[in-house]
Amino acid sequence: MTTIGMPEVRASIQLPEGIRSSAVKFSEGEYLHELVRANGFRRTLETGFGLGVSAASIMTASRARHVAIDPFQRDYDDCGLKNLERLGLTPNLEFHAEYSHSVLPRLLAQGRTFEFIFIDGDHKFDGQFVDFYFAASLIEEGGFIVLHDTWMRGTSYLVNYARANRRDLEPVPQSLRNIAVFRKRGADRRGWMHFEGFGGTPRSWIAHKVNQRLHAQPDSFLGKAALRVKDALKLSWSS
Ligand SMILES: C[S@@+](CC[C@H](N)C(=O)[O-])C[C@H]1O[C@@H](n2cnc3c(N)ncnc32)[C@H](O)[C@@H]1O
Repeated sequence: MTTIGMPEVRASIQLPEGIRSSAVKFSEGEYLHELVRANGFRRTLETGFGLGVSAASIMTASRARHVAIDPFQRDYDDCGLKNLERLGLTPNLEFHAEYSHSVLPRLLAQGRTFEFIFIDGDHKFDGQFVDFYFAASLIEEGGFIVLHDTWMRGTSYLVNYARANRRDLEPVPQSLRNIAVFRKRGADRRGWMHFEGFGGTPRSWIAHKVNQRLHAQPDSFLGKAALRVKDALKLSWSS
């Protein structure tokens, strides 16, 4: 069991020129470290291992097994793996050199669960969304899902999506601008028609609301009113 902390992480991690900007900042690492330490989290996972800064920050706080997923570590000349080796953290690292969209469903099928999940892998909206979707199923009650790089439009849309649609994931106020944190609170109780917009045009929002009402109560006063609105505005599902 390791007793090292963030001072050792700062001192030992090597960040080669040219790729160093892809790692989380040490100030962000310290924030992750403190979240894990203060909440006593031990079952942790991240997508996007990269240079290992986030992994080292999390692992020196949890002092427990950490799952890290990244298919491109070879492209980084195994820099992240070497950093963790240097810190003596390798025995507690469960590393998957695969895409997160392959590993996360497998972990779910195996019945694995986690108290802390950090998403910092594929930053395209759909890639992050898939990570977030599985994270929301893998996270335990009271556990945290943390998104990095909220400055990116794709990430900010994902945050908007979660805030608008996932009542089971409570936003946790925090001090860093580039990070968003959600805490799992209860079951996901949405009906199959549930959808709250998180972008798009006013017309697409109206179309969705009308179609929701139309489908839920077609014979009611509101359902018939929705049908009139739909016809008048020539709305369709894809408006
Ligand atoms: C911003 S870097 C992560 C930095 C890392 N958290 C750190 O502190 O050093 C993004 C990483 O995501 C990885 N990545 C890209 N697509 C991925 C995917 N589909 N699944 C998992 N990791 C992915 C990249 O190889 C890259 O190492």
